[in-house]
Amino acid sequence: MVQLGVNIDHIATVRQARQADEPDPAWAAMEAELGGADGITFHLREDRRHVNDRDAEVLKRTVASKLNMEMSIDPEIVKIALNLRPDQCTLVPERRAELTTEGGLDVRKLSRRLAPVVKKLNRVGIATSAFIEPVPEQIAASAKAGFGAVEIWTGSYAHATNADEREAALEILANAIDVGHNEGLIVHAGHGLTYRNVTPVAQLPGWSEFNIGHSIVARATLVGMRAAVREMKRLLHEADDRPNLVMLAPDDLADPTGTD
Ligand code: PXP
Repeated sequence: MVQLGVNIDHIATVRQARQADEPDPAWAAMEAELGGADGITFHLREDRRHVNDRDAEVLKRTVASKLNMEMSIDPEIVKIALNLRPDQCTLVPERRAELTTEGGLDVRKLSRRLAPVVKKLNRVGIATSAFIEPVPEQIAASAKAGFGAVEIWTGSYAHATNADEREAALEILANAIDVGHNEGLIVHAGHGLTYRNVTPVAQLPGWSEFNIGHSIVARATLVGMRAAVREMKRLLHEADDRPNLVMLAPDDLADPTGTD
């Protein structure tokens, strides 16, 4: 069954908005697990704009599910990852000016810099994943660089503005899953997935893991993290039972108290 990794970065974003000590991302991670999260994802950015080093350490000590650290290949961050030993590292491109990770890593271009990092991480038993766009050459380059998994950027689907664009993006995603499997890779998905748009993506067979952040944290501010995660898991697991809707009406979302 497909796994849900909940990205809790924006819990820390709220905390940092006031330079305060709440809300705590580790508490949010625990609530996410109680709602059924199969993993917790965080991005330790070079500028520490949300999650900080202490959060990473507390998450490592408290997360009972799979801990997935998103990171650049900055040497200081790589050193932290090697010491921290999360279950998985997802290597992502990082630019200080960006609001969130924009697009995938250019593994083809960066393979000489990426491969040694991947090797070091693999050597200490950390699973490695490359966040890339659904481009066959990037998938093949990821396998060649030593990654065990790829996380396919779903942004072109999420940002599509009409049905034709969405259909085309879904076809590209389906092809990326096939290419990934043929390369012997585990295939994850992430970026821009929401309660309203996730169903058609979840209907594509072959995904192992979804990493979803902003939409779950946004919903959690209103209904609580456990309910928000429970509902996203239900959408993922029941995707095949639903008509191929791109936009779910609010009534299609479960009672946030989880009592229905
Ligand atoms: N996967 C990766 C690699 C990301 O960088 C992000 C954004 O932090 C996500 C998934 C989650 O994206 P979103 O917040 O749009 O759900």
